[in-house]
Amino acid sequence: MRFDVLTLFPEMFAGYLGESLLKLAVQRKLVEVRLHDIRGWATDKHKKVDDRPFGGGPGMVLKVEPVVACVEAVRQEHPDPGHLVLLTPQGRRLDQAAVEQLADHRRIVLVCGRYEGFDERIRLVLRPDEISIGDYVLNGGEVAAMVVIDAVIRLVPGVLGDESSSQNDSFSGKERLLEHAQYTRPREYRGLEVPEVLVSGNHEEIACWRAEDARVRTLRRRADLAGPPDRDLAAQDNSQEQSSAAAHSAEQARKDQP
Ligand code: ADE
Repeated sequence: MRFDVLTLFPEMFAGYLGESLLKLAVQRKLVEVRLHDIRGWATDKHKKVDDRPFGGGPGMVLKVEPVVACVEAVRQEHPDPGHLVLLTPQGRRLDQAAVEQLADHRRIVLVCGRYEGFDERIRLVLRPDEISIGDYVLNGGEVAAMVVIDAVIRLVPGVLGDESSSQNDSFSGKERLLEHAQYTRPREYRGLEVPEVLVSGNHEEIACWRAEDARVRTLRRRADLAGPPDRDLAAQDNSQEQSSAAAHSAEQARKDQP
């Protein structure tokens, strides 16, 4: 999987690229990330990439010529021009289904904006897939591009040690529920014990407990993700007795609070 990132601040990516899962994926040649400085495509002697908005107003707008020139040159570097993504708060909202769609591409070209936004003709000429990582405004698209890369590489075969682990992630699989609670050693901490079933060795019962915990957790925390029958149930009676799995988690959370 190849990512090309077009940015005015390539240095912002150094720390992220050199750490953890991504570093390993790059070393194992499963993922490649190439950084391109948009300023390199500015044609005037001051390397100007932004200008004041026509009509007045605060801030600066990214100029059309260097951005389009940079995108066109980078796309031509490889026979596969790649899926072109513009990071902008005005784009479609990124969720796990969108991440799965992106992961189907072999190459993704990510364009990061800065300042007050892009000259509208960048959109009109390039017709990119416009993506927002949430309803808030960042200072630029760089952090959003890192979010996209981070989420997509989890789905690239071989990147996670265990291929089934992304299937159990929150928002994943057929039902797209929140993931069940997890525990590790010690078995007891400040009086909080790991649910007995998880140490029983009975894989069928463990799977049942996890499925139920995921279902109830999703209802309690994110009823918007639950299917209609479950959602109705939650709306009808929010004080209903919780399942043992969820009750246990809720009890733990209460006790965890300072
Ligand atoms: N650039 C600024 N804010 C953004 C957001 N929410 N998502 C993607 N890119 C952005």
